[in-house]
Amino acid sequence: MNSISWVVLLLFFLFCSSFSVETLSQTCHPLDLLALKEFAATLSNGSVLSSWSSDAVCCHWDGVVCENDAKNDAKNVSKVAMLNLSAKGLKGGISDSLSRLENLRSLDLSYNQLDGELPKSLSLLKKLQVINVSSNHLSGNLSGFGDFPNLIAFNLSNNSFSGEFNSQICNSSGYLRFLDLSMNHFTGNLENFKNCGKSLQELHVDSNSFSGVIPEFMYSFSGLKRLSLSSNNFSGQLSTNLSKLSNLESLILFENRFVGPLPNVFKNLTRLERLVAHTNLFSGPLPSTIEACSKLRVLDLRNNSLSGGLITDFAKFPNLWTLDLGSNKFKGKLPSSLSSCHELRILNLAKNELYGQIPVSYSNLSNLSYLSFSNNGLTDLPRALSVLQNCKNLTTLILTKNFRDEHILVNVNGFERLMVLAIANSGLKGQIPSWLIGCPRLEVVDLSWNNLSGVIPSWIGKMERLFYLDVSNNSLTGQLPKSLTDLKSLVSLNISSLILGSTTGIPLFVKRNQIRRGLQYNQVASFPPSLYLSHNKLSGPILPEIGKLIQLHVLDLSKNNLSGAIPNTISEMGNLEVLDLSSNDLHGSIPGPLSKLTFLSTFSVANNHLEGAIPTGTQFSGFPASSFEGNPGLCGESLPPCWPKTTPIRRSSSHRKLGRSTIFGITLGFGAGIMIYKCFFCFGSKCS
Ligand SMILES: *[C@@H]1O[C@H](CO)[C@@H](O)[C@H](O)[C@H]1NC(C)=O
Ligand SMILES: *[C@@H]1O[C@H](CO)[C@@H](O)[C@H](O)[C@H]1NC(C)=O
Ligand SMILES: *[C@@H]1O[C@H](CO)[C@@H](O)[C@H](O)[C@H]1NC(C)=O
Ligand SMILES: *[C@@H]1O[C@H](CO)[C@@H](O)[C@H](O)[C@H]1NC(C)=O
Ligand SMILES: *[C@@H]1O[C@H](CO)[C@@H](O)[C@H](O)[C@H]1NC(C)=O
Ligand SMILES: *[C@@H]1O[C@H](CO)[C@@H](O)[C@H](O)[C@H]1NC(C)=O
Ligand SMILES: *[C@@H]1O[C@H](CO)[C@@H](O)[C@H](O)[C@H]1NC(C)=O
Ligand SMILES: *[C@@H]1O[C@H](CO)[C@@H](O)[C@H](O)[C@H]1NC(C)=O
Ligand SMILES: *[C@@H]1O[C@H](CO)[C@@H](O)[C@H](O)[C@H]1NC(C)=O
Ligand SMILES: *[C@@H]1O[C@H](CO)[C@@H](O)[C@H](O)[C@H]1NC(C)=O
Ligand SMILES: *[C@@H]1O[C@H](CO)[C@@H](O)[C@H](O)[C@H]1NC(C)=O
Ligand SMILES: *[C@@H]1O[C@H](CO)[C@@H](O)[C@H](O)[C@H]1NC(C)=O
Repeated sequence: MNSISWVVLLLFFLFCSSFSVETLSQTCHPLDLLALKEFAATLSNGSVLSSWSSDAVCCHWDGVVCENDAKNDAKNVSKVAMLNLSAKGLKGGISDSLSRLENLRSLDLSYNQLDGELPKSLSLLKKLQVINVSSNHLSGNLSGFGDFPNLIAFNLSNNSFSGEFNSQICNSSGYLRFLDLSMNHFTGNLENFKNCGKSLQELHVDSNSFSGVIPEFMYSFSGLKRLSLSSNNFSGQLSTNLSKLSNLESLILFENRFVGPLPNVFKNLTRLERLVAHTNLFSGPLPSTIEACSKLRVLDLRNNSLSGGLITDFAKFPNLWTLDLGSNKFKGKLPSSLSSCHELRILNLAKNELYGQIPVSYSNLSNLSYLSFSNNGLTDLPRALSVLQNCKNLTTLILTKNFRDEHILVNVNGFERLMVLAIANSGLKGQIPSWLIGCPRLEVVDLSWNNLSGVIPSWIGKMERLFYLDVSNNSLTGQLPKSLTDLKSLVSLNISSLILGSTTGIPLFVKRNQIRRGLQYNQVASFPPSLYLSHNKLSGPILPEIGKLIQLHVLDLSKNNLSGAIPNTISEMGNLEVLDLSSNDLHGSIPGPLSKLTFLSTFSVANNHLEGAIPTGTQFSGFPASSFEGNPGLCGESLPPCWPKTTPIRRSSSHRKLGRSTIFGITLGFGAGIMIYKCFFCFGSKCS
């Protein structure tokens, strides 16, 4: 190294050390030090406090940033300008003492467990630009809070604030850009937001109890980029003045009571990326001007009463990722222009009045992952499958309630990534399709309520991930294949964490009877491991090997012609919650060890030829007589005693312990034949 390099290096070190000396000599204003110490003293806990030693240089404390105070500059005295204690495990109340940090510009206390109220005295801090106390347990109302001439961001989201939004904040601050009140218990209407609009870019009031209409003045908040009003009780129509919000990127209105048409004024909203208005009472057509929104990524209008044809030119949305128009009254054919949306991941058109064939061009939807067309009037299942098999990224395919009485095609080749398949409730003819063997990732299969015949193929046992199979209510014959007892996922659970409809989380509904609403599943993993084989023409024995399926929660073999004895090994299926063997041709006695099944909440062996005593034990003594009726040879427990002297004692106490199955609204086998079970996958909260 030559001498010049040495000099440079030396200068560098000198520079660095003088810099750090300067920083170290920065002392904290004594009043600020006191205020911070008082703040810390009122906390009951917080991981940050250990670093807040008695050191007088509070400017070096974790989360504290100081700035030289002009008045005290000569003495190198600094004042606290920013306090960021986000996610430091703070507990307890927020001390008034913070209001003495007179130079504070930014206060971030988010993601802690602070409780109590936000001190009204903070209003003394005229320099404050950022207040973020989101995700704590703060409560109280905002009356009398806020006179911050410089405030830019005010974030109270995810707390327990209540009352009306009657703060001064909007009256006093002309710079407010971010106002986030989401996930609280605020009430009242939006009239109090009248003075908020000057600079507002983001307004989030979602997940509160606000009500009333969107006041006309809000349509003049022309700087708004993001507006979230979802999950409140808003009502009324959207004004045509929506056109004035030309900077909108995200308009989130879901779960309210908005009515009337979507105003046809989207021509001016060319920056719109997300329009999410599901679960309202909107009616009328999809506005034609929506085609101007070429940046649209999410269009979710599910669960409204929109009608008319899908005549929109979807090719205008090259960035469209999610299209959810399910549970509306759209009529007509599937729009072939959709095939130009190459980015499309999620497509839900379920529960409309669409008919005709699936356009051949849909085979271009190479990124499509979630597709549901259930509850429509589509035709030509062979063509549908041969088109969709080209959508190589499909993981969820729901076609239930279409293709009435058609034949299920045998000759398909694709769907390698499919995890969830439902083509139920369509009266389909033919056999369980052998192309399923080419879908090694299948986890959930619903082919119930069709007219499928033939046997349950033994290759089903090779589907390593299958854990939910519903082929109930068909005309399947033959014996239960032994390979069924080898289903790997039911032996040792290995379920993906696929979230249905990923980004927007379109739930899947499974309806098992006509009385209750469908059960809602948001992820594959929340389906209970199940085998529904009921109401077919299956015969032969229940193989003892079935006991290997220890992960199974639901085993429904009812209404078949199964014969022989109930295998003892069922008692090894320790996760079983529902066991229905009713209306078969079973003989022998109920194995005593079955009483080991402690999770069992729904049980029936009604209408067989069983005999002997019902096993005693906590679970069994709670089941009603209807679980056992129609077996003249059975006795004990809820049935007449086996010997005249036996006194039934256990019933009343154990009844209370019974956790009813989460799967059925009604005990299976109760008055067999009276209940009509209906089961299919459908969408939208108004599934019928
Ligand atoms: C404070 O929090 C730490 C971990 O963050 C915990 O170990 C300790 O028990 C808590 N103390 C009190 C008094 O809550
Ligand atoms: C204040 O900082 C300057 C450097 O910016 C330093 O020269 C001076 O010694 C410091 N004064 C005191 C009292 O620490
Ligand atoms: C506070 O710090 C977190 C990261 O620790 C950061 O994400 C957040 O933006 C900071 N808050 C402010 C107001 O700068
Ligand atoms: C708190 O909110 C402010 C303003 O909205 C933001 O700058 C900051 O990043 C937020 N803090 C965290 C941890 O997200
Ligand atoms: C809401 O706050 C709680 C508690 O601080 C936190 O655990 C949770 O993740 C927050 N939720 C969201 C959506 O930020
Ligand atoms: C708001 O909270 C204060 C207590 O901080 C209470 O005295 C007042 O009655 C509340 N106002 C309303 C409208 O609930
Ligand atoms: C804010 O100003 C409006 C008038 O523009 C007034 O009606 C309202 O009462 C004021 N709000 C508060 C909390 O002072
Ligand atoms: C409010 O704060 C939360 C977390 O601290 C953040 O995720 C959210 O984006 C903030 N809201 C605004 C409008 O900045
Ligand atoms: C929503 O508002 C309507 C009136 O528009 C009212 O009848 C209903 O009770 C409100 N619902 C809730 C949950 O506040
Ligand atoms: C739209 O706003 C203008 C004022 O900007 C107002 O005169 C008009 O009545 C508004 N339109 C509707 C439908 O309210
Ligand atoms: C469209 O937006 C501009 C502002 O970008 C606004 O001046 C104009 O009035 C809007 N047009 C309509 C029809 O609302
Ligand atoms: C399928 O999705 C994966 C990511 O999940 C992506 O990398 C891949 O490109 C997609 N395949 C096609 C054909 O689009």
